[in-house]
Amino acid sequence: MANRFKPDLTWADATPEHVFLNRRAFMAGAVAAGGIAGNAVAAVPFEEDEKPNAWEEITQYNNFYEFGTGKGDPAEYAEALTTDPWEIEIGGLVDKPGTYSFKDIMKEMTVEERIYRFRCVEAWSMIIPWNGFELADLLNLAGVQDGAKYVAFETLVRPEEMWGQQRNYIDWPYREGLRLDEAMHPLTIMATGLYGKPMPNQNGAPIRLVVPWKYGFKSIKSIVKITLTDEQPQTSWNMLQPSEYGFYSNVNPEVDHPRWSQASERRVGGGLLARRVPTLMFNGYEEEVSGLYEGLNLAKNF
Ligand code: MTE
Repeated sequence: MANRFKPDLTWADATPEHVFLNRRAFMAGAVAAGGIAGNAVAAVPFEEDEKPNAWEEITQYNNFYEFGTGKGDPAEYAEALTTDPWEIEIGGLVDKPGTYSFKDIMKEMTVEERIYRFRCVEAWSMIIPWNGFELADLLNLAGVQDGAKYVAFETLVRPEEMWGQQRNYIDWPYREGLRLDEAMHPLTIMATGLYGKPMPNQNGAPIRLVVPWKYGFKSIKSIVKITLTDEQPQTSWNMLQPSEYGFYSNVNPEVDHPRWSQASERRVGGGLLARRVPTLMFNGYEEEVSGLYEGLNLAKNF
Protein backbone atom coordinates (compact mmCIF):
# COMPACT_ATOMS: atom_id res chain seq x y z
CA MET A 1 0.00 0.00 0.00
CA ALA A 2 1.24 3.46 -0.87
CA ASN A 3 2.71 5.39 1.99
CA ARG A 4 0.85 8.64 2.33
CA PHE A 5 2.02 9.40 5.84
CA LYS A 6 2.37 13.11 6.37
CA PRO A 7 4.25 13.74 9.61
CA ASP A 8 3.38 17.43 9.57
CA LEU A 9 -0.30 16.63 9.61
CA THR A 10 -0.13 14.43 12.61
CA TRP A 11 1.83 14.25 15.77
CA ALA A 12 4.72 16.66 16.06
CA ASP A 13 2.57 19.22 17.79
CA ALA A 14 -0.01 16.96 19.30
CA THR A 15 2.03 14.67 21.52
CA PRO A 16 3.57 16.13 24.66
CA GLU A 17 7.34 15.84 24.50
CA HIS A 18 7.67 14.26 27.90
CA VAL A 19 5.69 11.25 26.83
CA PHE A 20 7.85 8.58 25.36
CA LEU A 21 6.08 6.32 22.98
CA ASN A 22 7.21 3.64 20.69
CA ARG A 23 5.85 5.16 17.54
CA ARG A 24 4.25 2.30 15.82
CA ALA A 25 1.15 3.91 14.50
CA PHE A 26 -0.91 2.44 11.80
CA MET A 27 -4.25 2.04 10.18
CA ALA A 28 -5.45 -0.32 7.48
CA GLY A 29 -2.71 -2.12 5.64
CA ALA A 30 0.21 -1.42 7.86
CA VAL A 31 0.00 -4.57 9.89
CA ALA A 32 -1.02 -6.90 7.07
CA ALA A 33 -1.01 -10.30 8.64
CA GLY A 34 2.50 -11.17 9.64
CA GLY A 35 3.89 -8.26 7.68
CA ILE A 36 5.33 -6.29 10.52
CA ALA A 37 7.33 -7.86 13.27
CA GLY A 38 7.83 -6.87 16.88
CA ASN A 39 8.65 -3.24 17.24
CA ALA A 40 9.10 -2.19 13.65
CA VAL A 41 7.96 1.32 12.84
CA ALA A 42 5.04 1.44 10.48
CA ALA A 43 3.64 4.31 8.51
CA VAL A 44 0.12 5.66 8.78
CA PRO A 45 -1.65 5.37 5.45
CA PHE A 46 -4.07 8.25 5.87
CA GLU A 47 -6.54 9.32 3.33
CA GLU A 48 -5.73 12.92 2.54
CA ASP A 49 -8.60 14.20 4.61
CA GLU A 50 -8.54 11.53 7.31
CA LYS A 51 -7.09 13.46 10.19
CA PRO A 52 -7.54 12.28 13.75
CA ASN A 53 -10.47 13.85 15.55
CA ALA A 54 -9.72 16.63 17.98
CA TRP A 55 -9.16 15.89 21.66
CA GLU A 56 -12.39 17.75 22.46
CA GLU A 57 -14.42 15.63 20.04
CA ILE A 58 -13.01 12.37 21.37
CA THR A 59 -13.55 13.32 25.01
CA GLN A 60 -16.88 15.20 24.89
CA TYR A 61 -18.97 12.89 22.72
CA ASN A 62 -19.04 9.52 24.42
CA ASN A 63 -21.00 6.43 25.27
CA PHE A 64 -20.37 5.23 28.82
CA TYR A 65 -23.72 4.21 30.26
CA GLU A 66 -22.31 3.87 33.77
CA PHE A 67 -22.40 7.69 33.76
CA GLY A 68 -25.71 8.19 31.95
CA THR A 69 -27.05 7.69 28.46
CA GLY A 70 -26.45 11.17 27.01
CA LYS A 71 -23.41 11.80 24.81
CA GLY A 72 -22.25 14.58 27.15
CA ASP A 73 -22.89 12.66 30.39
CA PRO A 74 -19.56 10.81 30.59
CA ALA A 75 -17.57 14.06 30.23
CA GLU A 76 -19.73 15.62 32.91
CA TYR A 77 -19.83 12.82 35.48
CA ALA A 78 -16.89 10.45 34.95
CA GLU A 79 -14.58 12.62 37.00
CA ALA A 80 -16.11 10.92 40.05
CA LEU A 81 -14.42 7.64 39.17
CA THR A 82 -11.35 6.67 41.22
CA THR A 83 -8.88 5.03 38.86
CA ASP A 84 -5.85 4.73 41.14
CA PRO A 85 -5.32 2.15 42.55
CA TRP A 86 -6.72 -0.13 39.84
CA GLU A 87 -6.62 -3.89 39.64
CA ILE A 88 -7.60 -6.43 37.02
CA GLU A 89 -8.56 -9.93 38.01
CA ILE A 90 -7.37 -12.36 35.35
CA GLY A 91 -8.76 -15.87 35.68
CA GLY A 92 -10.29 -18.92 34.10
CA LEU A 93 -8.14 -20.98 31.76
CA VAL A 94 -4.80 -19.28 32.48
CA ASP A 95 -1.58 -20.52 34.06
CA LYS A 96 -1.22 -17.55 36.39
CA PRO A 97 -4.64 -16.49 37.61
CA GLY A 98 -4.69 -13.62 40.03
CA THR A 99 -5.13 -9.97 40.69
CA TYR A 100 -2.81 -7.82 38.61
CA SER A 101 -2.33 -4.19 39.51
CA PHE A 102 -2.52 -1.73 36.64
CA LYS A 103 0.88 -0.36 37.61
CA ASP A 104 2.52 -3.80 37.54
CA ILE A 105 0.95 -4.58 34.18
CA MET A 106 2.28 -1.32 32.74
CA LYS A 107 5.83 -2.20 33.81
CA GLU A 108 5.66 -5.26 31.55
CA MET A 109 4.00 -3.69 28.52
CA THR A 110 5.31 -1.64 25.64
CA VAL A 111 3.00 1.26 24.98
CA GLU A 112 2.52 2.18 21.35
CA GLU A 113 0.52 4.72 19.44
CA ARG A 114 -2.25 3.32 17.24
CA ILE A 115 -4.38 5.52 15.03
CA TYR A 116 -7.61 3.65 14.37
CA ARG A 117 -10.97 4.28 12.85
CA PHE A 118 -13.68 3.93 15.47
CA ARG A 119 -17.19 3.12 14.24
CA CYS A 120 -20.12 3.12 16.63
CA VAL A 121 -23.09 0.87 15.85
CA GLU A 122 -25.18 4.08 15.97
CA ALA A 123 -23.47 5.08 12.69
CA TRP A 124 -21.14 7.83 13.89
CA SER A 125 -17.39 7.50 13.66
CA MET A 126 -14.10 9.11 14.59
CA ILE A 127 -10.41 8.63 14.01
CA ILE A 128 -8.68 8.16 17.33
CA PRO A 129 -4.98 8.18 18.23
CA TRP A 130 -4.87 5.62 21.03
CA ASN A 131 -1.93 4.67 23.19
CA GLY A 132 -1.87 1.11 24.40
CA PHE A 133 -0.44 -2.37 24.10
CA GLU A 134 -1.54 -5.53 22.38
CA LEU A 135 -4.06 -7.55 24.37
CA ALA A 136 -2.11 -10.66 23.31
CA ASP A 137 0.85 -9.46 25.41
CA LEU A 138 -1.32 -9.27 28.52
CA LEU A 139 -2.94 -12.65 27.87
CA ASN A 140 0.49 -14.19 27.34
CA LEU A 141 1.63 -12.70 30.64
CA ALA A 142 -1.14 -14.65 32.36
CA GLY A 143 -0.47 -17.73 30.18
CA VAL A 144 -3.39 -18.91 28.05
CA GLN A 145 -4.15 -22.58 28.57
CA ASP A 146 -5.12 -25.11 25.90
CA GLY A 147 -8.85 -25.31 25.80
CA ALA A 148 -9.42 -21.56 26.12
CA LYS A 149 -11.63 -20.42 23.25
CA TYR A 150 -13.04 -17.06 24.37
CA VAL A 151 -12.11 -14.06 26.46
CA ALA A 152 -14.72 -12.39 28.67
CA PHE A 153 -14.35 -8.83 29.98
CA GLU A 154 -16.14 -6.92 32.72
CA THR A 155 -16.25 -3.27 33.72
CA LEU A 156 -16.03 -2.04 37.29
CA VAL A 157 -19.22 -1.95 39.38
CA ARG A 158 -19.17 1.00 41.77
CA PRO A 159 -22.58 2.69 41.81
CA GLU A 160 -21.48 5.29 44.34
CA GLU A 161 -19.09 6.68 41.71
CA MET A 162 -20.92 5.58 38.57
CA TRP A 163 -24.40 6.96 39.05
CA GLY A 164 -25.83 5.25 35.98
CA GLN A 165 -25.32 1.97 37.83
CA GLN A 166 -28.03 3.08 40.26
CA ARG A 167 -30.41 2.53 37.33
CA ASN A 168 -30.96 -0.84 35.77
CA TYR A 169 -31.08 -0.11 32.03
CA ILE A 170 -28.13 -2.52 31.80
CA ASP A 171 -27.66 -5.62 33.93
CA TRP A 172 -24.37 -4.46 35.45
CA PRO A 173 -21.50 -5.07 35.10
CA TYR A 174 -21.10 -4.07 31.44
CA ARG A 175 -19.80 -7.24 29.78
CA GLU A 176 -18.09 -7.99 26.52
CA GLY A 177 -16.34 -10.90 24.90
CA LEU A 178 -14.16 -11.97 22.01
CA ARG A 179 -13.17 -15.24 20.44
CA LEU A 180 -9.61 -16.07 21.49
CA ASP A 181 -8.22 -15.60 17.97
CA GLU A 182 -9.84 -12.15 17.79
CA ALA A 183 -8.38 -11.29 21.19
CA MET A 184 -4.90 -12.41 20.12
CA HIS A 185 -5.01 -10.48 16.83
CA PRO A 186 -2.31 -7.80 16.69
CA LEU A 187 -4.86 -5.06 15.94
CA THR A 188 -6.64 -5.72 19.25
CA ILE A 189 -5.29 -3.44 21.94
CA MET A 190 -5.77 -2.50 25.55
CA ALA A 191 -5.78 1.29 25.37
CA THR A 192 -4.39 3.34 28.23
CA GLY A 193 -4.20 6.77 26.68
CA LEU A 194 -5.16 9.23 23.98
CA TYR A 195 -2.91 11.71 22.19
CA GLY A 196 -0.05 10.62 24.48
CA LYS A 197 -1.97 11.52 27.64
CA PRO A 198 -3.44 9.10 30.19
CA MET A 199 -6.90 7.84 29.26
CA PRO A 200 -9.55 10.35 30.33
CA ASN A 201 -12.15 8.81 32.64
CA GLN A 202 -14.95 9.30 30.13
CA ASN A 203 -13.04 7.24 27.56
CA GLY A 204 -12.55 4.28 29.90
CA ALA A 205 -9.71 5.04 32.31
CA PRO A 206 -7.40 3.62 33.19
CA ILE A 207 -7.63 0.77 30.70
CA ARG A 208 -10.14 -0.26 28.03
CA LEU A 209 -10.36 -2.57 25.08
CA VAL A 210 -10.18 -1.34 21.47
CA VAL A 211 -11.14 -3.72 18.65
CA PRO A 212 -11.10 -1.46 15.60
CA TRP A 213 -12.92 -3.74 13.13
CA LYS A 214 -15.93 -4.19 15.42
CA TYR A 215 -18.70 -1.81 16.42
CA GLY A 216 -17.64 0.44 19.26
CA PHE A 217 -19.72 -1.23 21.96
CA LYS A 218 -17.34 -4.22 21.86
CA SER A 219 -14.58 -1.87 23.08
CA ILE A 220 -15.42 -2.19 26.77
CA LYS A 221 -14.18 0.49 29.15
CA SER A 222 -12.60 0.56 32.62
CA ILE A 223 -11.94 -3.18 32.74
CA VAL A 224 -11.54 -4.98 36.08
CA LYS A 225 -11.98 -8.60 35.07
CA ILE A 226 -10.73 -10.79 32.24
CA THR A 227 -11.70 -14.47 32.09
CA LEU A 228 -10.50 -17.09 29.63
CA THR A 229 -13.28 -19.60 28.96
CA ASP A 230 -14.24 -22.45 26.69
CA GLU A 231 -17.76 -21.11 26.24
CA GLN A 232 -18.99 -18.02 24.42
CA PRO A 233 -19.48 -15.39 27.12
CA GLN A 234 -22.55 -13.26 27.64
CA THR A 235 -22.26 -9.71 26.37
CA SER A 236 -24.30 -6.72 27.53
CA TRP A 237 -25.87 -5.56 24.28
CA ASN A 238 -26.56 -9.08 23.13
CA MET A 239 -28.29 -9.76 26.47
CA LEU A 240 -30.38 -6.61 26.05
CA GLN A 241 -31.44 -7.10 22.45
CA PRO A 242 -30.08 -10.24 20.74
CA SER A 243 -31.94 -9.57 17.48
CA GLU A 244 -30.09 -6.25 17.08
CA TYR A 245 -26.66 -6.88 18.56
CA GLY A 246 -24.83 -10.11 17.77
CA PHE A 247 -21.81 -11.56 19.50
CA TYR A 248 -19.47 -10.76 16.59
CA SER A 249 -20.62 -7.24 15.75
CA ASN A 250 -18.07 -6.84 13.01
CA VAL A 251 -18.49 -3.58 11.11
CA ASN A 252 -20.31 -4.56 7.93
CA PRO A 253 -21.93 -2.07 5.53
CA GLU A 254 -23.93 -4.90 3.96
CA VAL A 255 -25.68 -6.03 7.12
CA ASP A 256 -28.03 -3.32 8.35
CA HIS A 257 -29.11 -2.82 11.91
CA PRO A 258 -32.82 -3.79 12.04
CA ARG A 259 -33.67 -0.10 12.64
CA TRP A 260 -31.15 1.73 10.42
CA SER A 261 -28.71 1.34 7.57
CA GLN A 262 -25.06 0.59 8.27
CA ALA A 263 -23.95 1.49 4.73
CA SER A 264 -22.58 4.89 5.74
CA GLU A 265 -21.55 6.82 8.82
CA ARG A 266 -21.32 10.37 10.13
CA ARG A 267 -17.78 11.44 10.89
CA VAL A 268 -17.97 13.37 14.15
CA GLY A 269 -16.62 16.90 13.88
CA GLY A 270 -16.96 19.78 11.52
CA GLY A 271 -20.29 20.98 12.90
CA LEU A 272 -22.72 21.60 10.08
CA LEU A 273 -20.11 20.39 7.65
CA ALA A 274 -19.98 16.94 9.29
CA ARG A 275 -19.44 14.48 6.49
CA ARG A 276 -21.20 11.24 5.74
CA VAL A 277 -18.72 8.70 4.50
CA PRO A 278 -19.23 5.16 3.25
CA THR A 279 -18.72 2.48 5.88
CA LEU A 280 -15.94 0.07 5.03
CA MET A 281 -16.06 -3.70 5.43
CA PHE A 282 -14.51 -4.58 8.78
CA ASN A 283 -14.15 -0.82 9.23
CA GLY A 284 -11.30 -0.78 6.70
CA TYR A 285 -9.34 -3.64 8.29
CA GLU A 286 -10.60 -6.33 5.93
CA GLU A 287 -7.16 -7.29 4.70
CA GLU A 288 -5.98 -7.93 8.24
CA VAL A 289 -8.97 -9.67 9.77
CA SER A 290 -11.17 -11.31 7.11
CA GLY A 291 -9.16 -14.52 7.53
CA LEU A 292 -10.59 -14.87 11.02
CA TYR A 293 -14.06 -15.37 9.54
CA GLU A 294 -13.46 -17.62 6.57
CA GLY A 295 -16.44 -19.85 5.96
CA LEU A 296 -18.62 -17.95 8.42
CA ASN A 297 -21.93 -16.56 7.18
CA LEU A 298 -21.52 -12.93 8.26
CA ALA A 299 -25.20 -12.09 7.83
CA LYS A 300 -26.18 -14.87 10.22
CA ASN A 301 -23.23 -14.37 12.54
CA PHE A 302 -23.66 -10.62 12.77
N1 MTE B 1 -17.96 0.31 28.05
C1 MTE B 1 -18.70 0.43 29.18
N2 MTE B 1 -18.22 -0.11 30.31
N3 MTE B 1 -19.89 1.06 29.18
C2 MTE B 1 -20.44 1.59 28.04
O1 MTE B 1 -21.55 2.14 28.09
N4 MTE B 1 -20.15 1.99 25.63
C3 MTE B 1 -19.61 1.37 24.42
C4 MTE B 1 -18.10 1.25 24.47
N5 MTE B 1 -17.65 0.75 25.75
C5 MTE B 1 -19.68 1.48 26.84
C6 MTE B 1 -18.42 0.84 26.89
C7 MTE B 1 -20.02 2.08 23.22
S1 MTE B 1 -21.65 1.89 22.75
C8 MTE B 1 -19.13 2.80 22.46
S2 MTE B 1 -19.58 3.44 20.94
C9 MTE B 1 -17.79 3.07 22.95
O2 MTE B 1 -17.54 2.54 24.25
C10 MTE B 1 -17.55 4.57 22.98
O3 MTE B 1 -16.22 4.85 23.29
P1 MTE B 1 -15.75 6.39 23.40
O4 MTE B 1 -16.72 7.06 24.29
O5 MTE B 1 -14.36 6.34 23.94
O6 MTE B 1 -15.81 6.92 22.01
